[in-house]
Amino acid sequence: MHAHSGPEAAEIRPSHPHRRVTSFRSRRSSLSDSQQATWNRLWPEIGTVARPAEPGGHYPALDTDAWFGRSAPLVLEVGCGTGISTLAMARDEPDLDVIAVEVYKKGLAQLLGAIDRTAATDAPVTNIRLIRGDGIDVLQHLIPSGALTGVRVFFPDPWPKARHHKRRLLQPQTLDLIVDRLRPGGVLHAATDHADYAEQIGCEVVRQREKGLRAAYVEGFPRVRGDLVITFSPDGNSPVEAIPHLVAKQQEGYDMVIGSRYLPPARSADDDWLTAFGNWTFTHAINVLHGHAWRRPYTDAMVIYRIYRTRLFYELELDQPAGYAVEKWFGTRLGVEPLLSVRAAKRKLRIAEIPVDEPARIGGERKLQPFRWGAGYMTQVFRELYFWK
Ligand SMILES: C[S@@+](CC[C@H](N)C(=O)[O-])C[C@H]1O[C@@H](n2cnc3c(N)ncnc32)[C@H](O)[C@@H]1O
Repeated sequence: MHAHSGPEAAEIRPSHPHRRVTSFRSRRSSLSDSQQATWNRLWPEIGTVARPAEPGGHYPALDTDAWFGRSAPLVLEVGCGTGISTLAMARDEPDLDVIAVEVYKKGLAQLLGAIDRTAATDAPVTNIRLIRGDGIDVLQHLIPSGALTGVRVFFPDPWPKARHHKRRLLQPQTLDLIVDRLRPGGVLHAATDHADYAEQIGCEVVRQREKGLRAAYVEGFPRVRGDLVITFSPDGNSPVEAIPHLVAKQQEGYDMVIGSRYLPPARSADDDWLTAFGNWTFTHAINVLHGHAWRRPYTDAMVIYRIYRTRLFYELELDQPAGYAVEKWFGTRLGVEPLLSVRAAKRKLRIAEIPVDEPARIGGERKLQPFRWGAGYMTQVFRELYFWK
């Protein structure tokens, strides 16, 4: 098999000679014969290179409506890598037009191949275009102010050493540029698993002292400044698109709104028969033993994804170890949600549910201890019949 390195293999460089610091390393990437064939066929139509017409000159304008053949909300993803999540998200959101920017040619070739493979299916993906180049150049020269509905930067190169922090993609100047290119209400969706990078982007990061999810709540809640809190799964399977719906429902005057995986038409892609059975059993036990304060029973009393008044955490004494005392008998650590659901029902709070799908987790492993947790939660639910009036 011949490897093609192609004339552009390692030639993406900062467009301005004075900008020597880039957020990427130049890597040589050679395409296989079949990747090259797909590239030759598809690139002229759905790919382009971000480069000025002549060195130091203007960039040719990008007419996105003509390129996509329609006018639709535009999302720019910078650093799409091999494009696995780009393709999955574009397929799920056919009403958005997605531009994927990457310097790494082989990654773009993999995305092209994956797009090509959808052409022969019932659901061809037609809403992705690719740009090879530096995302900063694309934002600066090809995207007008206010043109984007979304910008996505998923797991940018972390550049962990302090002397390399200046190479990080999400710097204050880049954030300013992104804010300018987003329309009002547009969203920057960034993901990183490097705490100090998140801090640099402007997020406050609280480092947990004690292990476990409940400790995260107990240590994190004192830092919450808003009146409302949205809790979501650390495994990346609480879809962000549901946030406006959770908020809108809460604004109707509820103390808590649950993003239920079991309220039709919602579905869980993470469940197996054991978790589905366990969630059903606990939810029904809570409904039967503790009633339901708002006429409709819970369909999902266990899910993390919900919005509630911040004060509830303290009013329901979820921070107090006493509510979880049974866990020592089972050698496990119990989460907050079942007790929250039980006590909210006991207090006859205003609670609503909306259907929210649970997609497959994108990170983390399920640390399920089905029998210890099952026994622990069931004992806790029964104990609440006489404990904590
Ligand atoms: C760690 S990878 C993550 C890839 C992908 N988003 C994912 O989550 O799997 C970061 C990618 O960003 C690309 N990248 C870094 N800086 C870039 C820039 N300024 N413009 C375009 N791509 C960039 C790198 O080439 C690399 O492929």
